[in-house]
Amino acid sequence: MTGTMNLRSRAQLLGCVLGLRSLALVLWGIPGARALDNGLAMTPTMGWLHWERFMCNTDCEEDPDSCVSEKLFMQMADLMDSEGWRDVGYEYLCIDDCWMAPQRDSKGRLQADPKRFPGGIRRLADYVHGKGLKLGIYADVGKLTCAGFPGSYGYYDIDAKTFADWGVDLLKFDGCHFDTLVDLADGYKYMSLALNRTGRSIVYSCEWPLYMMPFRKPNYTEVREYCNHWRNFADIYDAWQSVKSVLDWTSSNQEKIVDAAGPGGWNDPDMLVIGNFGLSWDQQITQMALWAIMAAPLFMSNDLRQISPQAKALLQDKDVIAINQDPLGKQGYRLRKEDNIEVWERPLSDFAWAVAMVNLQEIGGPRFHTISLSSLGGGLACLPACLITELLPVKGKLGFYEWTSSLKLRINPTGTVLLRLDRTN
Ligand code: GAL
Repeated sequence: MTGTMNLRSRAQLLGCVLGLRSLALVLWGIPGARALDNGLAMTPTMGWLHWERFMCNTDCEEDPDSCVSEKLFMQMADLMDSEGWRDVGYEYLCIDDCWMAPQRDSKGRLQADPKRFPGGIRRLADYVHGKGLKLGIYADVGKLTCAGFPGSYGYYDIDAKTFADWGVDLLKFDGCHFDTLVDLADGYKYMSLALNRTGRSIVYSCEWPLYMMPFRKPNYTEVREYCNHWRNFADIYDAWQSVKSVLDWTSSNQEKIVDAAGPGGWNDPDMLVIGNFGLSWDQQITQMALWAIMAAPLFMSNDLRQISPQAKALLQDKDVIAINQDPLGKQGYRLRKEDNIEVWERPLSDFAWAVAMVNLQEIGGPRFHTISLSSLGGGLACLPACLITELLPVKGKLGFYEWTSSLKLRINPTGTVLLRLDRTN
């Protein structure tokens, strides 16, 4: 006991000295700004979104199983219900671009393409709600959507009301075809208020910072007041190159974005492409682990009708999802990069930490990396000791470690080892 006390006070002292820089990183995680006051997205939103996998496929004659149609969404809803997706948290089934008819109706309302959505969105929403799920839809702040369908500019109130009348639960609001930066900012704000005025709980997913960035630095305090999550970076696609560039952008900009995230508002690094074609197994592990560290909304874009048991188990991994959904709601960050190995960490509730080590070296085989536990969590993650559990790639308790110890891990090229550290008192 005395030994532990001594160790603790020595460690605290050392921790103060060593940990200042890392402590500053930890403090980023405290949200400085008020979140959009709609009571939603208190943890990152989870669900499914059609874009990356199904894009703007409107040819139901040639490709009836993969075109953007009510049939596709009904099939996904059935599977989210029957295959355990909803039960682990994937709740929002979301439609992206290309659901609309090319024209508004005679009253100026958006309408679904009548051939591909013969029952209309309200009936689809009823179906989705019947499965215990929620329905997301897509619109655009400008005059047209990115794929050229009617935009919401000039119709924000009508569109918000239409979505609420249909029973929609989430709006992804894209930012193509705006005229001025004022239109862009005002449009995003106006739609947030219009959705609130409907009285329906609708998660508001923005792309405001992404479209703002080439012209002006986004004001994340403001973005957080209006949006439940927001995209900062280019569209993801089904390749390691793309996942890598999202991670790279995020770590390079972490001082600007990490403290904007917190319950009610999240940085959105875009969809999970796990279960598709382009990522190796290790790269899929890296995406899942890092999206958990980044407190990212988890929108899968894959085909739940054809997904390998391995990808399904990864996406449904409850321990990793628990890190993503941790109620403290602090986004993680890259702690360091040395020798092409990145160490990321995320503070969790109950003084626990998640730690991810990514091997970015794409030549050679698995590499060993040794990490001293006193370097984690501003020196506090393992003080005076902690239980370390490996969550990915292999699940299992690694054991109890003291603050002075180090841990040697083997990481595959482009793969990640994800750990959970629970402090022992
Ligand atoms: C992009 C957006 C994508 C997808 C696409 C649809 O701008 O970032 O996620 O929604 O438009 O056209």
